Amino acid sequence: MIEVRQQPPMPAQKVPILSIGAGGIVRNAHYPAYRKAGFEVAGIFDLSSENATLAQEQFPNATIYSSLNELLDSDHEQIIYDLALPGSAVADTLERLPDGTYVLIQKPLGETLEQAQTILEIVERKSLKAAVNFQLRWAPYTLAAKDLIASGIIGEPHELHFEVCVYTPWALWTFLEKAPRMEMVYHSIHYIDLIRHLFGEPNSVMAHSIKDPRSPKLESSRSTIIFDYGDWKRASVHTYHGHNSGPRHQESYYRIEGPQGAIKVQMGLNMNYPDGAEDYLEYHRDGMKDWVRIPLEGSWFPDAFVGPMAAMMIWQNGGEAPSTEVHDAFETMQWVDAAYRASDARGFSPFN
Ligand SMILES: NC(=O)c1ccc[n+]([C@@H]2O[C@H](COP(=O)([O-])OP(=O)(O)OC[C@H]3O[C@@H](n4cnc5c(N)ncnc54)[C@H](O)[C@@H]3O)[C@@H](O)[C@H]2O)c1
Repeated sequence: MIEVRQQPPMPAQKVPILSIGAGGIVRNAHYPAYRKAGFEVAGIFDLSSENATLAQEQFPNATIYSSLNELLDSDHEQIIYDLALPGSAVADTLERLPDGTYVLIQKPLGETLEQAQTILEIVERKSLKAAVNFQLRWAPYTLAAKDLIASGIIGEPHELHFEVCVYTPWALWTFLEKAPRMEMVYHSIHYIDLIRHLFGEPNSVMAHSIKDPRSPKLESSRSTIIFDYGDWKRASVHTYHGHNSGPRHQESYYRIEGPQGAIKVQMGLNMNYPDGAEDYLEYHRDGMKDWVRIPLEGSWFPDAFVGPMAAMMIWQNGGEAPSTEVHDAFETMQWVDAAYRASDARGFSPFN
């Protein structure tokens, strides 16, 4: 079996964390990951004191602050701000952080390209050291798939496809009903970001993102996206979140094809909400009798959330910036925006 890595690089020195926004994703993924990694959460501020208190259960030594100002006034030699807010609240919060500080921003980078541009302008003006939490890049199966690709076992990849057919109860996240854009900017953005990470910058994008009768209040909740890489290479995403017919025919995977083989990753997290399904990573090379399954050492939730924070700490220790440094993340937002423009154009018809 090929040796693959599944754990992210860790910092020599751990840096304490201050949380701004402590809702579902913080309780279900950030904090369980930070506990596994031995990171320390020093303080929490959330507009909802109830949510802050719930989150504190996982880090009883963390101070709960009753306002953002109070959190910002707390004294720390080194700190990383961990923002997990609705995309629309990110810019105002960044504006209030001290210049030059380190901040990990939960995706998306705002809800629109205009908001992303505003965020980028604030980051540059205030010299913030900012990166975005596109953690799928650090999921154990993604780290392993990257090593498989690097080993040359499937040859130079020319096809990357994401397929998601699940039931997602979007109504749980009420803020999404106000979002001017939804599916591609809040969900498929993970796949768009990973496509850029694995395949590099595409030439162009074609897309179609529409509403679903099961989620009529949302701007869109199912998408088909194709990235053009010329005549020999493509990447695509197809999502359907309204499949409420039980787990039997749900699907959630990505598949990478090369001229000598293929890799398939099941992302069980999206399936059978809220329980999820198993993850798996398998590869096959021409001539092999069967696929080889690599035992996984963790999942998207929570394990993938260690990597982005560890990368911030490495940066603060004097190492390289994370691969999702805000300028790179802005390019993912540019592709999301281009996909919405492509979707608005609605393709060609022979009749007009
Ligand atoms: N895999 C992922 O990366 C992933 C998954 C889910 C959600 N998210 C992102 O995380 C963010 C939060 O999602 P969630 O699921 O935790 O939502 P949530 O509604 O459960 O929590 C949001 C929290 O932010 C708080 N809040 C809102 N505005 C605030 C402000 N100005 N200052 C302080 N607190 C504020 C709310 O009170 C709430 O507790 C969203 O941007 C979402 O896109 C990312």
